[in-house]
Amino acid sequence: MKIVILLGAPGSGKGTVAGQLTTADAALRHVSSGDLLRDAVRRGTPAGKEADGYMKAGKLVPDTIIAQMIADLIGGIQDSNTVLLLDGFPRNVAQAETLDGILKKVNSEISSVVLLEVPDAVIVERIAGRRSCPKCGAGYHVKFLPPKQEGICDACGGELVTRKDDNPETVQNRLDVYREQTFPLVEFYGSRVKKVDGLGQVEEVAARVKKVLD
Ligand code: AP5
Repeated sequence: MKIVILLGAPGSGKGTVAGQLTTADAALRHVSSGDLLRDAVRRGTPAGKEADGYMKAGKLVPDTIIAQMIADLIGGIQDSNTVLLLDGFPRNVAQAETLDGILKKVNSEISSVVLLEVPDAVIVERIAGRRSCPKCGAGYHVKFLPPKQEGICDACGGELVTRKDDNPETVQNRLDVYREQTFPLVEFYGSRVKKVDGLGQVEEVAARVKKVLD
């Protein structure tokens, strides 16, 4: 198994790029820690109940909750050809150290670390227009990636929603948390980090990411 870490600010396009890459390559698997947590919240699991308040406030949920989910997921992967695109985990240095421990147990390593670079003004516009499908998880943007029919998911016909944490106040908190806790991972991973321009058409950004993957 290979592990690719996708770093980038909230709204930089990590999930969108991962979705584009997995559509084109069956060996790639997209794992979004945010999606795992939102699913737990929806199902009302004990972890989801604990995570809900942190997510609404734009704070990181306790490391142990998300680390356990990632450990279970990685431990359950049987196919050694799988390439995991980890989007949203690790989110701080403690989680990065935990990930190293998880990977050691399954004899795997991080093959690439990609940092998507997008200016703040673009981030704000991307998050303001984001819509997602709660049924199948597909992501859209009212201006940049609109569905064929307004408010309806192209893939499954579900009704598109705005994420609860995409309001201006929570977004500001998420950006602050990113700068304080997640950005230091760029130093942690050092020369392994490949910086990729996150501006342009989704297909262009995905092609740039693909080019830097080891
Ligand atoms: P999470 O779900 O991980 O949110 P995030 O990091 O804030 O990232 P986003 O999902 O907002 O952005 P993205 O980069 O995937 O952008 P997207 O592709 O959607 O985390 C949410 C919360 O969960 C956290 O606040 C925290 O509470 C908790 N959490 C998660 N992981 C955790 C962890 N490890 N530890 C502790 N807590 C954790 O794109 C955004 C928009 O832009 C979309 O509308 C898209 O269509 C559009 N777009 C994308 N690319 C382009 C492009 N090239 N051109 C035009 N538009 C584009």
